[in-house]
Amino acid sequence: MPKLGVNIDHVATLREARKTIEPDPVKAALECEQAGCDSIVCHLRKDRRHVQDEDLFRLKKEVRLPINMEMSVDPEIVDIICLLRPFQATIVPENRQEITTEGGLDVRGNLDEVMFVSKKLKDSGILVSLFIDPDIIQLESAVSAGVDMVEFHTGLYAENFISGGGYEAELQNLAIMVKKGVDMGIRVAAGHGLTYDNVAPVAAIENLYELNIGHSIISKSVFTGIGRAVRQMKELML
Ligand code: PXP
Repeated sequence: MPKLGVNIDHVATLREARKTIEPDPVKAALECEQAGCDSIVCHLRKDRRHVQDEDLFRLKKEVRLPINMEMSVDPEIVDIICLLRPFQATIVPENRQEITTEGGLDVRGNLDEVMFVSKKLKDSGILVSLFIDPDIIQLESAVSAGVDMVEFHTGLYAENFISGGGYEAELQNLAIMVKKGVDMGIRVAAGHGLTYDNVAPVAAIENLYELNIGHSIISKSVFTGIGRAVRQMKELML
């Protein structure tokens, strides 16, 4: 069974809708911890649309679970993450207009920059992961960049699952890429667009280290509370 990282960004999205103090993403993280999740994930965006710098330092102080910071290669963000020193950083592509992270990082096309930022993070004692599409060229580039881990983007699998068209082929590709990554000696995670309906076949892929899930868990938590939402997701991953 892979570990579960819960992305709490959208608790902060709700707070930022009113620019007020509730709901508190740190309180949400503490409830996820109590419910048995394995790590807390959040994304400090350049536009600060959800979590804010202060949230991160409170998270680091108050939560015992490993914190996995999603981040772009923007120098201001890199400096903040190096100062924060979370357990893990996941480098993702970021552009201002997107609703959410839209695709994997083009490691092949930006190898020097990715290697430069990875080294800075590693020198600060942070485990480094790259968010990439389940594609052999990107995987080989990530391995050549010397990172510890990759997270495969499951967006296409999730989209195809909803439209009913060809998700099995995506699932099979994902399983092949996971095996290749593990054979190359790195840890492999997956995430994006995973839901209570589509998570089980992905969780069943052998040797997958971790799944990172945000939107679906936070959506369910509106009705059930976040502890129950986390426990239900973990049950589906067994
Ligand atoms: N993994 C990464 C790298 C992401 O950027 C995101 C979205 O922030 C997720 C996982 C979680 O995606 P979702 O909110 O669709 O579960």
